[in-house]
Amino acid sequence: MSQISKVGVLGCGLMGSGIAQAAAAAGFTTVARDVADPLLEKGRAGILKSMGRLVEKGKLRAADRDAAAARLAFTTDMADLLNCDIVIEAVTEDLALKNALWRELDGLCPPATIFASNTSSLTIAAMAAATRRPDRFVGLHFFNPVPLMPLVEVVRTVTTSQETFDRAFAFARSLGKEAVAATDNPGFIVNLLLVPYLLDAARALERGTASTVDLDRAMQLGCGHPMGPLTLLDYIGLDTVVRIADIMFDAYREPRYAAPPLLQRMVVAGYHGRKNGRGFYDYSVDPPVPSELGLGTGVNSQR
Ligand code: CAA
Repeated sequence: MSQISKVGVLGCGLMGSGIAQAAAAAGFTTVARDVADPLLEKGRAGILKSMGRLVEKGKLRAADRDAAAARLAFTTDMADLLNCDIVIEAVTEDLALKNALWRELDGLCPPATIFASNTSSLTIAAMAAATRRPDRFVGLHFFNPVPLMPLVEVVRTVTTSQETFDRAFAFARSLGKEAVAATDNPGFIVNLLLVPYLLDAARALERGTASTVDLDRAMQLGCGHPMGPLTLLDYIGLDTVVRIADIMFDAYREPRYAAPPLLQRMVVAGYHGRKNGRGFYDYSVDPPVPSELGLGTGVNSQR
């Protein structure tokens, strides 16, 4: 089994930059590719900020941060991914877009390069089939925030070879993560269970079951979750969750995966969560306060 030493990351948004950070911090030469310099600059700034926080907290030595930063390169040129041993894709959840990138990369990279998608809900096999290496294609699903979340789901398709799966699994562990094996069903393990729970929280708010704050507090204190479900929806991004839910609903045709009208309205109105300053909470003030969502149930003003 050949060693993985150089890692390519397609997409330098929240997930892509987190994956690039994890790879560089674990000692891999890493190149992150996105379509425009401002996107790469934003990704680089996020990585430096995150590593700075880890240094401040004593979780990363300053020398190791500097060494990780030196292992990281940023590019807009696909050809710079040519000699990577593994390429991990973390672009928008759009199959046509992803497959266009995979096709291009398939023509550039040597046959041995493993292709891995960080998709959270699309079928990995639908990407593998767009390439001439369906046996060397896996899912590697990371969690936000990547530098802190210990899990990676390693996803095997119908066509993934045992060697590729083993290498991808070992690679995930070499990033300092815990790996679990999942089959290629939309949502894998975590989103299969998490997404209906998050959608139910939005339904409960819509129905007037409890206030935003109390729904969150109940699940934090009653179940020991680090974040309540509405805070977590804002954290992941409401547009992202609706996109994932739509894909899962399309696949399973089960109402539990149907995004409730409230969530759909919020996305249309530009309430995308923490990333753009408003979602179930308004982040323009510190600490954030529950957003006025025009629910008419009065639950948010009861207490
Ligand atoms: N990089 C480095 N450090 C970070 C960081 C980052 N990106 N984000 C937060 N931190 C650090 C903070 O500096 C802080 O450090 P100390 O504890 O040493 O002081 C620590 O993390 C805690 O941060 P905060 O006080 O700001 O916030 P918190 O206590 O709420 O913790 C959290 C943040 C780790 C994100 C925690 O709330 C949590 O685990 N939340 C749940 C996240 C979750 O469920 N993620 C999965 C989402 S689903 C998904 O990603 C898959 C999908 O496909 C949708």
